[in-house]
Amino acid sequence: MKISKICCIGAGYVGGPTMAVIAQKCPEIKVTVVDINEARIAAWNDENLDNLPVYEPGLDKVVGEARGRNLFFSTQVDAAIQEAEMVFISVNTPTKTYGEGKGQAADLKWIELCARQIAAASDSDKIVVEKSTLPVRTAEAVKDILSNTGNGVKFQILSNPEFLAEGTAVEDLQQADRVLIGGENSPEGKEAIQALVDIYAHWIPRERILTTNVWSSELSKLTANAVLAQRVSSINALSELCEVTEADIDEVARAIGADSRIGGKFLKASVGFGGSCFQKDILNLVYISRSYGLTEVADYWEQVIKMNDHQKGRFARKIVKSLYNTVSGKKIAFLGWAFKKDTNDTRESAAIYVADQLLNEKAQISVFDPKVKYQQIQSDINYLQTRGKEENGALLESVADPYEACKDSHAVAILTEWDEFVQYDWKKIYDSMLKPAKIFDGRNILDHEQLREIGFRVYAIGKPLE
Ligand code: NAI
Repeated sequence: MKISKICCIGAGYVGGPTMAVIAQKCPEIKVTVVDINEARIAAWNDENLDNLPVYEPGLDKVVGEARGRNLFFSTQVDAAIQEAEMVFISVNTPTKTYGEGKGQAADLKWIELCARQIAAASDSDKIVVEKSTLPVRTAEAVKDILSNTGNGVKFQILSNPEFLAEGTAVEDLQQADRVLIGGENSPEGKEAIQALVDIYAHWIPRERILTTNVWSSELSKLTANAVLAQRVSSINALSELCEVTEADIDEVARAIGADSRIGGKFLKASVGFGGSCFQKDILNLVYISRSYGLTEVADYWEQVIKMNDHQKGRFARKIVKSLYNTVSGKKIAFLGWAFKKDTNDTRESAAIYVADQLLNEKAQISVFDPKVKYQQIQSDINYLQTRGKEENGALLESVADPYEACKDSHAVAILTEWDEFVQYDWKKIYDSMLKPAKIFDGRNILDHEQLREIGFRVYAIGKPLE
């Protein structure tokens, strides 16, 4: 089966970049990305590529090359579904905020709506691809909805989870470690798998395209994120031990990672992981395990989240303690708000939770982030509903200049590892701050020796104090 038209439902951080790369690599396939969010679609269609709704290095070039040729962004969801032979579902699957499984289970409301919309808009057979991260066995429900339309249209469901990391999405998509495709072990299932393999084979070496049954594919994505997050929580747990024993976490991580069985990646201690996926996917894994009665399995993975919360909390407490146990009315500069560098995504960013704790202590926070705007910062902090919007507005500001954020502050906290922070004129920043001037390096990116020579008191993750 040869695919000539693809529709992708959901023009977010995954749908946008993924489809842009498919369109770039497969010029003979028409790719239409649809979304109900009109503003988002308008931004994807903006003449000025600086205004794309997702910031990713290199994405502007890919979109610039394919948009209007074989890549289209539209709000006409039904029309795009109808003409496509293959429909990707790439909508959000956040943690449930209500009812059964609140705070843990994935909210599949949007997935079900998509399935129903696909069922209603289809008048020819289609392959439906789960691109969103979904709880294991979701395909069963999707299939049930799709196969009961009564109009004779046949659907094959594939699971094709996305492993890109924000900040390196384009590179990850163009040179994926692996592509995972799960499908049914029937002749029709195999044909559908082959159709999707043929698309990726335009640019991914065949041996990196793994095919499995649907359930392995669904479960692999959740568990890949759990294992990645577990490495971060493991090294963060050790960072606290380093601080009390005068070991240095970067040295320990290097020694651990030099073991070829372990490897050096994802062993960087920090203020804690963020992002829309790790926490949500682990909570979901915990929920699923518990729903099958696997208490020990659930408890084991839950600890990864608890450790992460602890790491964020103790970073905030360390700031308060070192500022003589009171930050009330004191200006504290935040460098970084995004959950990691090279993205404008702030979902679950550690900065939000550290800020919230400091605002509880009535600190005055001034934020600078190269890619995150004031509105986003306010909406992130208001979302927690810890205090009123007016109070958040009064205590938390954001400025367009890092030097202004730091001026007259008691402390500077590094919350995101943006490269440009390393290049700043730290002497100039020191001179503009109240003394003793303190730096809390939540990402261990700055040259601490040099900062101490300037006169700063430096607090870093997993490092001896002096
Ligand atoms: P997102 O929130 O940025 O984008 C989802 C989009 O879907 C939104 O623009 C929303 O308006 C749209 N949408 C929701 N329901 C719709 C409907 N019925 N019709 C049309 N559009 C609809 O989410 P993101 O980050 O792209 O994540 C999507 C999925 O991919 C999630 O399941 C996530 O877990 C998974 N994922 C995310 C990664 C990431 O780095 N953000 C990486 C790998 C997987």
